[in-house]
Amino acid sequence: MTVENLMDKLVSHCKANGFMFQSSEIYGGLNGFWDYGPLGVELKRNIKEAWWKDMYQSHNELACPPSAPSTYDMVGLDCTIIMHPQVWKCSGHYDLFHDFMVDCRKTKKRYRFDQLRGRWVSQGPQRIFVTTMAEPEQEQEDIARRALKFFNLRSKDIERLSFDERVLTFDKLDESDRAKVLGPDTDEIGTLTDPREFNLMFKTYVGALSGEEGAAFLRPETAQGIFVNFKNVVDSTRIRVPFGVAQVGKSFRNEITPRNFTFRSREFEQMEIEFFCHPSQSANWYQYWRNRRLQWYKDLGLDSDRLRLREHEQDELSHYSCGTADIEYAFPFLPPGEYGELEGIAHRGDFDLRSHSEGKLDPKKRPLEVELDEHGSPKHRGSGKDLTYRDDLTNERFIPHVIEPSAGADRATLAFLCQAYTEIQSSESNGKFESRVVMRLHPRIAPYKAAVLPLVKKDGMPEIAAEIYGALKKKFNVFYDEKSAIGKRYWRQDKIGTPYCITVDSQTLVDQTVTIRDRDSMEQWRIPIDQVVAEIEKRVC
Ligand code: GAP
Repeated sequence: MTVENLMDKLVSHCKANGFMFQSSEIYGGLNGFWDYGPLGVELKRNIKEAWWKDMYQSHNELACPPSAPSTYDMVGLDCTIIMHPQVWKCSGHYDLFHDFMVDCRKTKKRYRFDQLRGRWVSQGPQRIFVTTMAEPEQEQEDIARRALKFFNLRSKDIERLSFDERVLTFDKLDESDRAKVLGPDTDEIGTLTDPREFNLMFKTYVGALSGEEGAAFLRPETAQGIFVNFKNVVDSTRIRVPFGVAQVGKSFRNEITPRNFTFRSREFEQMEIEFFCHPSQSANWYQYWRNRRLQWYKDLGLDSDRLRLREHEQDELSHYSCGTADIEYAFPFLPPGEYGELEGIAHRGDFDLRSHSEGKLDPKKRPLEVELDEHGSPKHRGSGKDLTYRDDLTNERFIPHVIEPSAGADRATLAFLCQAYTEIQSSESNGKFESRVVMRLHPRIAPYKAAVLPLVKKDGMPEIAAEIYGALKKKFNVFYDEKSAIGKRYWRQDKIGTPYCITVDSQTLVDQTVTIRDRDSMEQWRIPIDQVVAEIEKRVC
């Protein structure tokens, strides 16, 4: 199966089975926005709950976890999506969170300056730079096809063209060459504008003020809500460093080129921890969180061979970071050997708390109207509030360092879906083979934990099955199905990832036992009815 083939199949499987739909589909959709259907909402909720349970709740603050530098505490927060605009000035997002983009004057399409790839193609003395937005495997073919069309040649004339060996991105061209560029969707050269900065934050207006005084932004990360509440958390809980604050919530980025299903969306959910520690311990905590987070994905079923931890190069680091490692996954929409970011673990040093405490915001000034000092640095930047921490045992006062494991709930969901999608050959009774899909989702995150199936709709089997269903339903999301042959019903559950099927059959009427079938091994075994809830609980929690 080719890479696009697999992704196309996954996307249509997700739609057909209610995992994911394009947002506003009946109006033609809205690029970069996705809705979670009846199964998708359960899957994503289970992933978020697994994260919350494993990261926030399950550790014991009285005992040092293996490989952690010391004991620590965790608390949670749920902050607003719209915050004071000065937050984004201090975080750096207002000035630095942008991409460069170019517009096509003819098609009105917009492209990321650093993502537009192409090759120089010449015919005789004329040389043009042909760009493409095709997937890597089709890139060469697309460039050749468009070059032929531009020079008014037929395929058999391809020898008359000479192609430069190298594929370059648009941002690597000399300015003087931009007039020779053929945009990815036009047949004329020179239609692309010069690059312009494009801030990725969505702007909105608060209250009745429609002018810049009311301007605000939808948060591009959940992290800042945690930093600006640092003092509130310490004062209200009497928590001591080291500790982490966890938050799950929506973030918004006006991505120029949303793509690859939900991988790069404009509205998405993050699961972030800001872990506050003593500066002398921050390197150790950074190691701890990198390892802990990587293991979490493995424990929930991502294949080690498709995961890697990649340390950022110095020139890749964000403005706030003194070290970042990405947990990456070999998503099937990427060419072999390439990986996409699942989560970043950043050592943010004291950047955020320092930035939010520096200076003083003049309440009389409009938000974001920042006065500069004689060196050109903002005079009234932060809140002017003291965001230092005093250790009451040692009396030391310091600005804690922050380690930030920042995960995307949608990217994690996509990775688990990609990992789970399996096509298997099944033998038909008439001897023909057909292919069917099994979603091998980890039981903890599977939308339904079990399905209860009476073998036939008579002899009291549906009544017993309904009772088992009722008992399970109090604890888990379970499915009841009495329609069609039992094999078909098993397959229906396999394709939506239900790990266990519980069948009530004629033996049940004799000895009060039922069959449990395992989705992946297809192994079956019998247990007494009164042990069903405990058995499922043991396997899915
Ligand atoms: N607070 C740090 C921060 O936001 P980031 O690397 O920009 O760091 C963290 O984002 C995670 O959020 C990413 O690893 C990814 O999982 C998710 N994420 C970021 N942008 C996204 C997008 N446009 N669509 C889906 N998920 C995204």
